Amino acid sequence: MKHLHGRTALVTGASGGLGRVVARALAREGVAVAVSGRREDRLAELVVELRALGVRAEAVPGDLNRLDLLDALIERAEAAVGPLDVLVNNAGVENVSAFTRLDPAELTAMVDVNLTAPLLLTRRALPGMLDRGRGHVVFVSSLAAKIGPAYCAPYAATKAGLIGLTQSLRAEYAGAPVGFSVVCPGFIAGDGMYQRMTERGIRAGRMAGETSTDKVAATVIRAIRRDLPEVVESGAPIRPLLALAQIAPGLAERVAARFGATAMFRRLSEDRGRVEPDG
Ligand SMILES: NC(=O)c1ccc[n+]([C@@H]2O[C@H](COP(=O)([O-])OP(=O)(O)OC[C@H]3O[C@@H](n4cnc5c(N)ncnc54)[C@H](OP(=O)(O)O)[C@@H]3O)[C@@H](O)[C@H]2O)c1
Repeated sequence: MKHLHGRTALVTGASGGLGRVVARALAREGVAVAVSGRREDRLAELVVELRALGVRAEAVPGDLNRLDLLDALIERAEAAVGPLDVLVNNAGVENVSAFTRLDPAELTAMVDVNLTAPLLLTRRALPGMLDRGRGHVVFVSSLAAKIGPAYCAPYAATKAGLIGLTQSLRAEYAGAPVGFSVVCPGFIAGDGMYQRMTERGIRAGRMAGETSTDKVAATVIRAIRRDLPEVVESGAPIRPLLALAQIAPGLAERVAARFGATAMFRRLSEDRGRVEPDG
């Protein structure tokens, strides 16, 4: 979708670190934005900020674990800002833990927010986009989808699901006026879930690198404009390793082990009391 001015968007996870910045970036392009999340105070502050940028902005609070209410979330967003041109499935949860220390309810809650909610929201928004002859859906995945780190199993699994989802939708709707993109950020400094880890004194090694909320938000805008299938936005030159993973996964696994992610996520799991006593 080359021209964004005057379009409408729903951004999920807009009360969080990256979502707020994506909503601001869309508003700066002249897009009317419906912002969603559970924390209504944060959404209300953001709405004031977005309106000051000269666009229509409305909060549509909601809990993505309530899968039965997701059709209604799209309907509320459309009632608030108009039929949706853009859907940014940004909301996500991470629960860093030894795999066997996650109880079944935690596992399914993560699958619901990270994967089932994007499926359901997209399913509800897509027919209208196709009827109107324009639209774009962005899925915010993660580098963890490409190189699954230790202590992040359900996160990596759900984020990898978003890549398969994007590929399949692009194949099915090739030639249709609606596009789909998946954005895979590395560690994002400044705000959001990784920033909160750094505030606990846990930081990625230099080889893993850090990107910023502004760079990832700019990537989201670029993906919409150019209908990019998949974009990795990382603070490290990671593409050679990702290419290696396609042709020699065993070798790539040994290289990735040198990035220090296992030690970092193990420390976080320990901090959270989420490792096996003898693990
Ligand atoms: N930060 C990073 O380093 C990084 C790296 C790669 C990928 N990502 C991805 O980028 C996206 C944004 O991450 P972030 O760092 O901005 O995380 P964040 O600060 O933790 O924000 C997460 C957002 O998701 C929303 N959310 C979580 N559970 C929800 C639920 N049940 N219902 C509705 N909304 C819910 C939160 O809103 P409420 O709490 O208000 O509900 C919040 O707005 C995520 O998909 C994440 O996986 C982040």
